[in-house]
Amino acid sequence: MQNLNSKPGCFIAFEGIDGSGKSTQVQLLNQRLLRHGIHCYITREPTDSPIGSLIHQLMTGRIVSDNRVVAGLFVADRLDHLLNPVDGIKAKIDSGIPVITDRYYFSSYAYHAVDMPMDWVIQANSQSAEILRPSVTVFVDVDPEDAIARISKSRSHVELFETKERLAQVREKYLEAFEKLKDQEKILIVNGSQPEAALAEELWEKLHPCFGL
Ligand code: TYD
Repeated sequence: MQNLNSKPGCFIAFEGIDGSGKSTQVQLLNQRLLRHGIHCYITREPTDSPIGSLIHQLMTGRIVSDNRVVAGLFVADRLDHLLNPVDGIKAKIDSGIPVITDRYYFSSYAYHAVDMPMDWVIQANSQSAEILRPSVTVFVDVDPEDAIARISKSRSHVELFETKERLAQVREKYLEAFEKLKDQEKILIVNGSQPEAALAEELWEKLHPCFGL
């Protein structure tokens, strides 16, 4: 049972297409919070759990399965991320520890809704949404063209056309999901094409009250 004396911690989920720069912003926000003496639990999806490791193998093509199976594994990975007894984030939030996650259920809504109905994906994730909704979901919005340029810089080969088209579809699905769920969720959309430091500043201005600062 939840300890009623504990103040719930702030829970921020970062979202964006691949190459959006969200992971860098998670780090910058965390560093700034640490300078203010706030120690967050920083985490990501897919996780490093056995389920997350299966997902990584599916994503790199080491094992192959149907997209619906992959979507189902993300549902399971997320529930484990929330509820597992060792480092589940629900218990951390309940004991007042702030949590920042790099990807959460909106990643599923956007990435899987390219191949299957979004309502199915939302329904499949409804337990996670019931257990823990983010205090804020931050969407780092970038032009898929810019995202591809960033990804190409860090990797040797990218199938440019296919990937750009897919990222554009994923971005559209994110926007569709935000519109669909705007009454239930707190969404902050920021421009990820601005310089890294300027975006970090904007995020600090908007998010620091969530941490009681
Ligand atoms: P990763 O290499 O960790 O990418 P990133 O650093 O951009 O987060 O792989 C995460 C990939 O998994 C990314 O392409 C998005 C995808 N994904 C889904 O398809 N569904 C999900 O529910 C989640 C959380 C991620």
